[in-house]
Amino acid sequence: MKPIQIAEGIYHVGVNDWNIEDFHGYSTPLGTTYNAFLIVDEKNVLIDTVKAEFGDRLIANISQVVDPHSIDMVISNHTEMDHTGSLARIMHLIGEDKPLYCSKMGAKNIKQHFSNKFNYQPVKNGQTLEIGRRSLTFLETRMLHWPDSMFTYVNQDRILFSSDAFGQHYAGFEIYDDVVGGKIMWHARKYFANILMLYSPLILKLLAKVKEMNLEIEMICPDHGILWRKNPASIIEAYQRWSNQVAEDKAVVVYDTMWHSTEKMADAIAEGIADQQVEVRPMYLRKWHRSDIMTDVIDAEAVVVGSPTLNNGLVPTVSDFLTYMKGLKPVGKLGAAFGSYGWSGESVKLINKALEEMKFEVIQSPMRVQFVPGKDDLESAYEFGCDIGRRIKES
Ligand code: FEO
Repeated sequence: MKPIQIAEGIYHVGVNDWNIEDFHGYSTPLGTTYNAFLIVDEKNVLIDTVKAEFGDRLIANISQVVDPHSIDMVISNHTEMDHTGSLARIMHLIGEDKPLYCSKMGAKNIKQHFSNKFNYQPVKNGQTLEIGRRSLTFLETRMLHWPDSMFTYVNQDRILFSSDAFGQHYAGFEIYDDVVGGKIMWHARKYFANILMLYSPLILKLLAKVKEMNLEIEMICPDHGILWRKNPASIIEAYQRWSNQVAEDKAVVVYDTMWHSTEKMADAIAEGIADQQVEVRPMYLRKWHRSDIMTDVIDAEAVVVGSPTLNNGLVPTVSDFLTYMKGLKPVGKLGAAFGSYGWSGESVKLINKALEEMKFEVIQSPMRVQFVPGKDDLESAYEFGCDIGRRIKES
């Protein structure tokens, strides 16, 4: 990707990572981007850097706009290494005495990652920095999604550099919402569901704070994916909805199977749910990645989980999914368990226990079948699904 002028004197100098497939447990089939931005003013400012292995490309992009040595200061909105992997190299190139603006926690974290020697300039929430024709205002966004996270707002251009927030793991030459089109919202939802959902209460507070500040926003520039220039309000509204975890009449049936018995139960349960006019999709864990399932869980009223009993426990894919979902803290869901077994049959109890730990409202009579479900068992599974569907409609 070449540098792209996104506003007069403001450039996107980040890079596409086409080949990344897995972002610590999150599937990224379309790759991602590491966005970095250069403001050319009386002071030249670099906002964020890129993953270490893309440092050459970042420097090449900057060099097409200005001599990198002319960068007067760097702003680090977030310490995670997809945005600071090239920071030490940039600081070394431009001069380690040049100021490095970041939050107080950012200074602490960057020191622990890289170097004590940089000229740290910790900033406070609302602090403003003059850089010539423009001034920048910093907004602390602690725990969104790290303790160091912050935003940088360009007052004159009304551009918000939002670090990870409002991002998507989507690599492409189309860098704007109006160019890529509506499909980007699914990627933004996946990103929210897998990275930010657990911080929903904090996001609601942040959105309220931004509203109070009457911050006019013409463009939102996250550190991953496309920039929101046509309709930045659309992603803010979506964050409001997702943070409230507003549920639809929808269920997700997540399962693994050994000899198709739990699969047959999953299909019958889903059919029962669907017959109550509730949207439902059986999601087989060997087909669907956990991060894609979470993208559906976010607005589902019910999560129904199935596993055969294996070695007195759960099939590993189901354990993996439950652990992953627990960490992301979905709230207000109805939960239910099902599964086949041979002789001991612990799986449904273990699933119910896990769902209770997540504070789901759990149906206390899980659906369990020994070995292979017969006609009556499948009718019971269908009725189990109908019951779940009715509860969803009533809620
Ligand atoms: Fe994109 Fe939290 O790093």
